[in-house]
Amino acid sequence: MQKPISEACLRNQAPIAEALKKLLPKAAQLLEIGSGTGQHAVFCAKELPHVVWQPSDLAQHHAGMKLWIDEALLDNLLNPLELDVDQSWPALDVDHVFTANTVHYIAVSSVVNMFTGITRLLEKEGLFIMYGPVNINGEYTSEGNVRLDEWLKSCVNPLAGIKDLADLERLAKDQNLILIDNLAMPANNRLLVFQKR
Ligand SMILES: C[S@@+](CC[C@H](N)C(=O)[O-])C[C@H]1O[C@@H](n2cnc3c(N)ncnc32)[C@H](O)[C@@H]1O
Repeated sequence: MQKPISEACLRNQAPIAEALKKLLPKAAQLLEIGSGTGQHAVFCAKELPHVVWQPSDLAQHHAGMKLWIDEALLDNLLNPLELDVDQSWPALDVDHVFTANTVHYIAVSSVVNMFTGITRLLEKEGLFIMYGPVNINGEYTSEGNVRLDEWLKSCVNPLAGIKDLADLERLAKDQNLILIDNLAMPANNRLLVFQKR
């Protein structure tokens, strides 16, 4: 088996890691949800050696992700856990949660499950950092996002799709996760930073 490669990860991993360095200056335990290929986990664990990075995803992604993790030989990068936001939440002690490109990939009901699970894990002041595309006032922010949304609904899940920022902010607030920052990222993506209150 060859290491799975996401070209998008190769493009966005450096800007994501730069932003995380500013947001997470202190030693911390972080859970990543929907780690996919594991490239963000490896790249960010290397760039943020003070953060213990716990990748997770559905079981089918673990073998590929392990190839990256085993090759990286990083003390602060753990083996992936099985975490399906709709079903299985391991008991964990974490300070922060990160996820990239998952919220548009899943149905709104799963986003609610994700936020509910995250708020249970976090202590007050803990951060939930979310990378990906969002709509603003019901409008796509680029032609690329229009095409991505069409592809998601036809090829991934008819209930998937890019979510509106205001809806995400409201669903998060219902779980005591308050939007404290909203950073522009390359290719019309955002880094949304929520804090547990
Ligand atoms: C577009 S990929 C993003 C992967 C990676 N984070 C990245 O940015 O390249 C979406 C990820 O969400 C995961 N995912 C889908 N449904 C999920 C669920 N119910 N619970 C947890 N992860 C899920 C998929 O397995 C996949 O790895």
